[in-house]
Amino acid sequence: MLVAPSILSANFGALAKDVEAICEGGCDLVHVDVMDGHFVPNLTIGPVVVESVAEASTKPLDIHLMVENNTFFVDLFAPLKPGFISFHIEEEKHPHRLVQKIRSLGIRPAVVLNPHTPPEAIEFLLEDIDMVLLMSVNPGFGGQKFIPSVIEKAKRLKALIEKRNPACLIEVDGGVNDVNVKELEAAGVDVVVAGSYVYKHPEGVAKAIASLK
Ligand code: DX5
Ligand code: ZN
Repeated sequence: MLVAPSILSANFGALAKDVEAICEGGCDLVHVDVMDGHFVPNLTIGPVVVESVAEASTKPLDIHLMVENNTFFVDLFAPLKPGFISFHIEEEKHPHRLVQKIRSLGIRPAVVLNPHTPPEAIEFLLEDIDMVLLMSVNPGFGGQKFIPSVIEKAKRLKALIEKRNPACLIEVDGGVNDVNVKELEAAGVDVVVAGSYVYKHPEGVAKAIASLK
């Protein structure tokens, strides 16, 4: 299992230190939640802060856009050379065009599905993307309860991926812990995002990451 801790649950007063801790603790990606206060009822960070995150990180950034104007934000974050940029399918009129744009910038494109969105919605995008992110909470906040229907969705998505693009990864985001990670793995999930589980673990971030792996 690949692990992408979400820095949303980090201490923003000591962000560089908290990014270094997850990188030294064995994470695979650093998950960065970008919220605009419109697509979701919360506001997080822009390129000035994410630039500092990129400097502190030894792992690729996994930028999760929760915004209304995806193209604008892709242009804003592209100079930081993240590993992945993901955008919500619910908020994009021309997802195929945006996928091509992200790819042309040398970044791996990923698409995000909210809890209600069926995997079939992106069947004909699968050949062109490197990862699908399934939300297991409603986007906007860390520390929410895991929505179990994501397990069935991951299984259905896995079948579509086997048919269309077996190299495409499945990532799950929201309420992930050391218990539900086992079910996620069995459903074919490759990457888990975990914010509060990692940063609030009583034995520290390295132990938390190891337990998810
Ligand atoms: C929610 C974000 C998540 C969040 C996960 O909108 O996309 O990445 O930080 O936090 P936990 O793991 O605490 O649910
Ligand atoms: Zn996220």
